[in-house]
Amino acid sequence: MSLTFYPITKELYDYAICHRTYASDPLMQKLRRETLALGEISEMAIPPEEESFLSILVAACNAKTAIEVGTFTGIGSIAIARALAQSGKLVCCEINPQWIALASKYWKEAGLEHKIEVKIGPALKTIQDLEEDLRFDFAFIDADKENYENYYELLLPKMRQNGLLVFDNMFWKGRVIRPEDSDKDSLVLSRLNDKLSNDTRIESVLLPIADGVVIARKKN
Ligand SMILES: C[S@@+](CC[C@H](N)C(=O)[O-])C[C@H]1O[C@@H](n2cnc3c(N)ncnc32)[C@H](O)[C@@H]1O
Repeated sequence: MSLTFYPITKELYDYAICHRTYASDPLMQKLRRETLALGEISEMAIPPEEESFLSILVAACNAKTAIEVGTFTGIGSIAIARALAQSGKLVCCEINPQWIALASKYWKEAGLEHKIEVKIGPALKTIQDLEEDLRFDFAFIDADKENYENYYELLLPKMRQNGLLVFDNMFWKGRVIRPEDSDKDSLVLSRLNDKLSNDTRIESVLLPIADGVVIARKKN
């Protein structure tokens, strides 16, 4: 049988992340440095290849309205907002105002402030309180894992036909394979992977990039 995937090495990974547009974008580099300086918590930030991946998806589907659930220091939000149409809007849901203060500096520096609407507080409530008729072309789910399924069920009716939902950390560092040996979030994400791959309302794929990324297209 032929090899269907190539195990990645650190050297190959470093090579890959250098070979992308915006690899040396000074603003993103500065934001990544400031995020890294936060210490261990900086692990929450999306990796560079995912940042590019989000931008390309958003632009390719010509998105005008987007939502990010879990913004942290703003790397994903910048990747999404810069790829939205000029008149586009990104709703950023974040529970911690400290992260929004940091992200806001960079939104301003990137000239993206006008595209971003911040909602500070628990994302479940934020989504429940959104205008009834608001529809999204793109959603990035990247906050507390225990609520991923709730975010999905609340957002799916708010997505346009063919709108894309992207779920981060769907490998949960590999723990989704044997969730019974691990923490509660592993079980939650493992069950969600099962549900998404069998859900007839969407077409989905779990991609082995970053910490496992699911893309789901709303069918109708
Ligand atoms: C993995 S980080 C997000 C990373 C970010 N998307 C990026 O591009 O780097 C998760 C974020 O979700 C936030 N969060 C956790 N629980 C939340 C909740 N219930 N509502 C809103 N935000 C939440 C955390 O404060 C944290 O900033």
